[in-house]
Amino acid sequence: MPSFPNPFQGNIPRTMTKEELVQAIRLDIAGELEAIYLYDAHVHATTDEIAKKVIADIRDEEKAHVGELMALLRILDPKEAEFFAEGESEVKEMLEDLGIVEPKDISSDPVSPSTLTVGSLLNQ
Ligand SMILES: [Fe+2]
Repeated sequence: MPSFPNPFQGNIPRTMTKEELVQAIRLDIAGELEAIYLYDAHVHATTDEIAKKVIADIRDEEKAHVGELMALLRILDPKEAEFFAEGESEVKEMLEDLGIVEPKDISSDPVSPSTLTVGSLLNQ
């Protein structure tokens, strides 16, 4: 959350090391996730359709920022990127074990009756 009383709080009197930059990017990602959470809560908490539309659009822009920062983090720390890939592979294996195809894999044929997705299972 912002801390407006001290406008110099985020200033660093020197150039960051690469390790510090990686840590800063992680903190930036956390900030984006917090913003998404708050905007989403505001979207759900109002009945004003204009506010819903504007705030939801801002929320979705924050999601894009997460993607940008994650891409930057992968570039700055390839070892960490390997851990991300390892986690993604583990989830893909779990989905395979459950016979679930990732949603993006069915986007070209969303009505295929032989395809199970998390969403389709929720509707059963
Ligand atoms: Fe953002």
